[in-house]
Amino acid sequence: MLPHTPSESPPSNLAALAEDHYFSANPPPKDLQKHVALAEDFIDFHSKAGRRLVLVTSGGTTVPLEKQTVRFIDNFSAGTRGATSAEYFLEAGYAVLFLHRQFSLLPYSRHYSHATDCFLDFLREGPNGSVVARDEDASKMLNVLRKYREARDKNMLLVLPFVSISDYLHELRSIAQLMKPLGPKGLLYLAAAVSDFFVPPDRMSEHKIQSTDAADAFNKKSKPVSEEEETFDNFDSSPSVPRSKRLVVDLDPVPKFLKNLVEGWSPEGMIVSFKLETDPKILVHKARYSLDRYQHHLVIGNLLSTRKWEVVFVGPGNPDKWIRVPQSGRIQDIKEAEKDEPLDPKSLPEQEPEVEIESLIIPAVAELHTKYIKNSEEKKLGA
Ligand code: PMT
Repeated sequence: MLPHTPSESPPSNLAALAEDHYFSANPPPKDLQKHVALAEDFIDFHSKAGRRLVLVTSGGTTVPLEKQTVRFIDNFSAGTRGATSAEYFLEAGYAVLFLHRQFSLLPYSRHYSHATDCFLDFLREGPNGSVVARDEDASKMLNVLRKYREARDKNMLLVLPFVSISDYLHELRSIAQLMKPLGPKGLLYLAAAVSDFFVPPDRMSEHKIQSTDAADAFNKKSKPVSEEEETFDNFDSSPSVPRSKRLVVDLDPVPKFLKNLVEGWSPEGMIVSFKLETDPKILVHKARYSLDRYQHHLVIGNLLSTRKWEVVFVGPGNPDKWIRVPQSGRIQDIKEAEKDEPLDPKSLPEQEPEVEIESLIIPAVAELHTKYIKNSEEKKLGA
C-alpha cells in the first residue's frame, strides 16, 4: 500500500478568492444559461430515476489571443478518449452528460467522422434514388445507429459544446454544481485536455493583432516606435527581427480549480481526473502528486505516445494499477502486460490497437464507483 500524504495545497480561502477573481474577470460563454437549463432537466430526470450519471469532459480547450478571436492557441486532443469512454459508460447503464470541444469527436458519430475516410465513402446509391450504407459497412453501421438511437430516445445522452478555456471552466463549474442532488451517484470523468496558460482579458487585444504598422495611421492612440523599442528584446539578446515586428505572447497560468471542484462544486460526487505527460519517468509521480494535492478519488495517468495502449490508475491507498490492451497474444506480451512501469513506445506496433482501451477503463472505473457509492451510503448510515 502506498502512503497517501497530502502535499501542500492552496488554502481554501485562497482557492475561493482565485475562483471569484477568475469567474468575474472572464465572461461566461453566451449559451451558458441555455446549457444550464438543458443540464438541469437532464440531471433532474436521472436523479429522480435513481440512475448513475457521469459528466464526461472531452477534447481540447482553446486560448484566444484576441477578444474578437481570429487567432488562438490549441492543443492536440481530438476527443477520442472522451467520445469512446462515453459509449462505454452508456453501455454500463450510466446517463452521460458529454461536455466537449465544439466539432471534436462525438459518441457514435466518431466511427464515421474525422477519419481518413470521408463519411461519404461509407455510402452508395440505392434503388429509386435512395442512399444506403455500403454492404461491407452496413452491419457495423446498423449496430452503431441502434445504440445511438437508443441513447437519444431514452434521453441517456446530453451533448453540450465549449470552445475556449474560459467557456470550459464556466460550464464545468455550473454543471458540477447542478450535479449535487445526485450525491455519490454523480461521477465526474475529466478527460478534456485543459490549457494550463491563458491571456487574461485585461491584456487581450480587442481586435485582430496586426502584423504590419499599416493600420497605425488610423489609430490615434498609437505612439511612434522608438529606436530602443525597435531593437530591444528582453527574451532574446540578439533578435533577428526588431521587437515591434514580433509577436511576443505572454501567458498567465490558468488557476487549478480541482480543489474548488472537490471541496465546493461537487463535494459528494466521485471525481476522476486524467494526467497527461510525455516523459514516462515522471508520469506516476505527477499523477500521485495531483491526487495528494486535490484529494479526489482517482487519477488516470497516460502518456501521449502510448495512451491508446496503456493507462495507470492511481488511487488513494491503492498500489498503482496498469491497464493494458493485449498487443498480439505473444508470450512476452503477457509479461509486458504485468509490468509495473510504462511500456517502451518503440516496442508497440505502429497500427492502432484492435481493442479500445476504454472498453477496459470504464468497467474498472464503474467498479470503483460502486464501492464509492457503497462507502458513502455506509458513512451516512453510521453518521
Ligand atoms: O483526445 P485524445 O486524443 O483521446 O487524448 C486524450 C487525453 C490524452 C487528452 C486524455 O486522456 C487526458 O489525459 N486528458 C487530461 C489532459 C490534461 O489536461 O492533463 P493535465 O495534466 O494538464 O491536467 C490534469 C488535470 O488537471 C485534468 O483533469 C484537468 O481537468 C485539470 N486541470 C488542468 C489544467 C488546469 N488549468 N486546471 C485543471 O483543473
